[in-house]
Amino acid sequence: MPNLPLRSGGPNARIAVIPGDGIGKEVTPIGVAAIQAAARKHRHIEFVEFDWSADKYLREKVSLPEGAVELLQNEFDAILFGALGDPRVPSNQHAADILLGLRFKLDLYINARPTELFHERFTPLKDRVCNDIQLIVFRENTEGIYVGAGGFFKKGTPDEIATQEDINSRKGVERIIRHAFEFARTHYLGSAGFQPASAGAHKPLRVCMSDKSNAMTFAGDLWQRVFKSVRVEYPDVESRHLYIDTLTMELVRDPRQFDVIVTNNLFGDIISDLSAELAGGLGLAPSGNIHPGRTSLFEPVHGSAPNIAGKGIANPFGSVLAAGMLLDFLGWHPEATCLKSAVKAALLDNMTTPDLHGSHTTAQVSDYLLAHIAKHA
Ligand SMILES: NC(=O)c1ccc[n+]([C@@H]2O[C@H](COP(=O)([O-])OP(=O)(O)OC[C@H]3O[C@@H](n4cnc5c(N)ncnc54)[C@H](O)[C@@H]3O)[C@@H](O)[C@H]2O)c1
Repeated sequence: MPNLPLRSGGPNARIAVIPGDGIGKEVTPIGVAAIQAAARKHRHIEFVEFDWSADKYLREKVSLPEGAVELLQNEFDAILFGALGDPRVPSNQHAADILLGLRFKLDLYINARPTELFHERFTPLKDRVCNDIQLIVFRENTEGIYVGAGGFFKKGTPDEIATQEDINSRKGVERIIRHAFEFARTHYLGSAGFQPASAGAHKPLRVCMSDKSNAMTFAGDLWQRVFKSVRVEYPDVESRHLYIDTLTMELVRDPRQFDVIVTNNLFGDIISDLSAELAGGLGLAPSGNIHPGRTSLFEPVHGSAPNIAGKGIANPFGSVLAAGMLLDFLGWHPEATCLKSAVKAALLDNMTTPDLHGSHTTAQVSDYLLAHIAKHA
């Protein structure tokens, strides 16, 4: 079993770029430029851009084109994604087809959401320092209530009933829990965040599995049994279980308790937003949708922000940090660290857009980041 979600680790890569809508089109080129600046000396990368977006959907009635999944799977190592969502498509159908379509059809079962506090002024918690908030959430990304199982009975009548089913397969639960333990065993927390560790060189990270098995007794029972059977294979990894409501409280009360959190699709969606907020929120949150060894997708957590699109003030940090996760996925760790260091330097130099209380434009922040990367790559 590979201990890292590597795609290749070689010097070449093909990366698909899907900027999408709104500010996705403004920040994704900066993620691409950051990768190029960091990797230009030792790597050869080919980028291919795809215009899958609201514009295309409105123009051609095409969201995810036929053959797109096979193309990405067979010809690309990774995908750098922007954001989807446009007020002209109120149903958000194109976004659901493209983003959920890729997550499910590429079987990207790991949603990795790291949270690292880069500077104390970005946390809403009192008296917390950077080292206190360094954790990663692994959210199951292909099952749960997001599969769309359920339905209506007597819809639109006073007797209406709606059901939404929570789907948990043994295989799905086991592979995400196992990934959390593998990650804990093969990584350590250094000054540049989560770094690959050689066996035995560092103490493994701590794993917390979270569910609501006291109320959701069938799905919870499966999660509990799988957790117990997998954890015995990792006696070197400290692990525990918390109910999701307790985890929510503990994360705010004392985030130092957590390195690796693993949970289902719904709870992971919520808890990863909470943890991102503890370290500065949307503008600093990247995300990876990963299947180890297969084409995987990296994106900033934020959406298309139509309220600021076209104004030149979108914060590019989420996209650049997502690009860093993509480089880590390719096994290009020094280049990944270079991108993260550039974001950290920009924050320390107050080189930020208005959402992070700065006065700089997207272009100014981008120039700063690219100059920093070029100098240190
Ligand atoms: N992964 C995705 O593609 C994704 C994720 C979330 C929302 N969306 C979609 O995006 C659209 C807008 O949704 P929303 O407003 O709820 O969420 P949003 O993340 O787009 O915006 C929320 C708020 O944060 C601000 N913001 C977000 N990213 C920013 C950035 N990089 N720089 C500066 N400010 C930023 C926005 O201006 C807005 O005030 C909707 O269509 C939604 O469905 C897409």
